[in-house]
Amino acid sequence: MNVRPSLFSLLVYVGFVLFTSAAIAETTITVEVHSDQPGATIHRNIYGQFMEHLGRGIYEGVWVGEDSKIPNKNGYRKDVVKALKALEVPLLRWPGGCFADEYHWRDGVGPRDQRPVTINTTWGGVSDDNAFGTHEFFELAEMLDAEVYINGNLGTGTPREMAAWLEYMTAEGESTLANLRRANGRDKPWKVDYFAIGNEAWGCGGTMTPDYYANLYKHYATFAKTPENNRPIMIASGGHTEQTEWTQTLLEQVPNTWSLRMNAISHHYYTLPTGDWDKHGRALAFGENEWFSTLKNTLRIEEFIKANIAIMDKLDPEKKVGFYVDEWGTWYDVEPGDNPGFLYQQNTIRDAVLTGMNLNIFHQYAERVQMTNIAQMVNVLQAMILTDKEKMLLTPTYHVFKMYIPFQDATAYPVSISGDKGYRFGEESIPGISASAAKSKDGKLWLALVNTHPSEAKSVSIATAGKLRTAKGQLLTSAAMDAHNTFDSPESVQPKEYKAKAKDGSLILDLPAKSVVVVELK
Ligand code: AHR
Repeated sequence: MNVRPSLFSLLVYVGFVLFTSAAIAETTITVEVHSDQPGATIHRNIYGQFMEHLGRGIYEGVWVGEDSKIPNKNGYRKDVVKALKALEVPLLRWPGGCFADEYHWRDGVGPRDQRPVTINTTWGGVSDDNAFGTHEFFELAEMLDAEVYINGNLGTGTPREMAAWLEYMTAEGESTLANLRRANGRDKPWKVDYFAIGNEAWGCGGTMTPDYYANLYKHYATFAKTPENNRPIMIASGGHTEQTEWTQTLLEQVPNTWSLRMNAISHHYYTLPTGDWDKHGRALAFGENEWFSTLKNTLRIEEFIKANIAIMDKLDPEKKVGFYVDEWGTWYDVEPGDNPGFLYQQNTIRDAVLTGMNLNIFHQYAERVQMTNIAQMVNVLQAMILTDKEKMLLTPTYHVFKMYIPFQDATAYPVSISGDKGYRFGEESIPGISASAAKSKDGKLWLALVNTHPSEAKSVSIATAGKLRTAKGQLLTSAAMDAHNTFDSPESVQPKEYKAKAKDGSLILDLPAKSVVVVELK
């Protein structure tokens, strides 16, 4: 057989090389980091976590009790606490969610064996022995060095019950409630960093109108008193999805005075692959149509943030009130066989890509969006951690949160993306690349990039004022669209070290399909 290339085949080869390099050059995307235009501080509480009495989110997920065979310290499972410490969780929101409006704090204090057993009517109708209550929550927050966000009960509680809980937690001097706290093992008052008056008042929190809720907010918040040096940031329950009327009404009707404060308005948005609450779409074994629709739907959060901020900028031009997305993340169909009230779902590389996209959006609006809480921390919806009795795994979402740690309290830099032809699916398209950049507290320059395409790699050229020589950090990617970690194979989706060096003066980062990259630029 003659293996020598003919002149013709050589010409064809040279032509192919020239053609493909031209094609690559054409498709190179540029991300420009405007490090000369420092923006808002990215509040670390954008990385906040939500933990509700829901399914195995708290019981088994965090709390197993001192007598459990699962290794624990004072009842908290050691493996989960260790993983959460490594995540540098800045803030914990508790006890709900919908559960908050049925939670009566006195059920969860005092000797555990004497606490009442209540029915969690919101989530699965299961018994709650109230072993995890106020003291257990604060102890967990102390273990994690996290701030606390307590969600008060407006739906089925009275202003007196709410005021009494605040007194129990914060009173310094002599009072029956402060003494009860002491008798229950806590001498010093706790610091209550954030406190919300109700949750989802438009739905599970009482099916109210914005007007009705605004009046109730004023009523309850007036009596939500704490010592002067321990005044929580007060949060009003706002709207969800595309709603703006909650923000509008609350800002129009709730004055900010010394005795009545509304420091933030919360907003919720869940991403469903189908956008249909009757059939959300699956967590695993989905097609590219649902890869695409999930990412397309998640991007809508930017319109919702923008629309609400536009109202806030008119009614609160001094920017005294924050916009907190205190519930966000994916919500899939429950797996067949699971308790539908437990909202347990698997978590794939799709969730990881979506997380990067959301965080990049939150960074961009950091001036108003000073807190977000992903729903939820363990075993519920888009969780960081899944457990199965004594087993535990870290989800792809966990890994992205960890990769993004340098962005906590960093200074946001605007980025502009050019040359991105987008990710087209059928007749629709979304951006192919999502990015954000910031200067971390220790002065380093960080860049986060997401390739939204499930099968096409991208090359991204990075530009900024001054010369860039290297990029060093981590990459998360995988082959299958629904790649995930299981209890038998907990490390299938894992971040890897990522490095790139400038060549001929330009720094090009190669992003595999469906990937998240976070790098320090030098
Ligand atoms: O996160 C699950 C539920 O979703 C929360 O309890 C509620 O606030 C929202 O509807």
